[in-house]
Amino acid sequence: MTKIAVLLGSLRKESFSKKIASNVADLFPEGYEIEFVQIGNLPLYNQDFDDENNAPAEYTTFRNTMKECDAVLFVTPEYNRSVPAVLKNALDVGSRPYGQSVWDGKPAAIISQSPGNLSGFGANHHLRQSLVFLNMPIVQQPEAYIGNVADLLDENGKMTNEGTIQFLQTFVDVFVDLIKKNQS
Ligand code: FNR
Repeated sequence: MTKIAVLLGSLRKESFSKKIASNVADLFPEGYEIEFVQIGNLPLYNQDFDDENNAPAEYTTFRNTMKECDAVLFVTPEYNRSVPAVLKNALDVGSRPYGQSVWDGKPAAIISQSPGNLSGFGANHHLRQSLVFLNMPIVQQPEAYIGNVADLLDENGKMTNEGTIQFLQTFVDVFVDLIKKNQS
């Protein structure tokens, strides 16, 4: 079983990011297990916590969970043209202590979304910048920018737009190929 961690850039109960991620989770083939990993409980990263004896229990649990995952799918809105703090915080927590990053070499894919036309472009690329530095092979094409997101979901959060579903299926297929290459 290949384990995919889903990290969301929104803590909102009715988050569009969460709804998109739930739809995308259904597009993975058999043999893939999707885990939505909680990041809202992580205390703000503080370098003093790099000392093992000082590390908050939430850091340890998160790092262990991420170490067990084979790949990471990020689904995020844009906050003020960048990555929401909760997601950046999770990246920072997972990247330390120095030399023990949970991200190193782990394949990743990014989907950004917005209720407007801009589709979270700023967050998508700021996040990409960090993932490149963290040495994560990332799906480059197709890029996944989901705009006007409210129009693509029904009242139950189910994706209704055939074109978008097909696009996201292609995106998942490319991600699965990247993961397989990484495993071989
Ligand atoms: C936003 N929003 C937003 N949208 C955008 O396209 N570009 C932006 O820079 C911002 N900035 C921003 C900052 C903050 C603090 C909030 C709360 C919101 C709107 C955002 O795209 C919208 O609220 C999404 O619905 C958030 O995603 P979730 O929570 O639905 O996943």
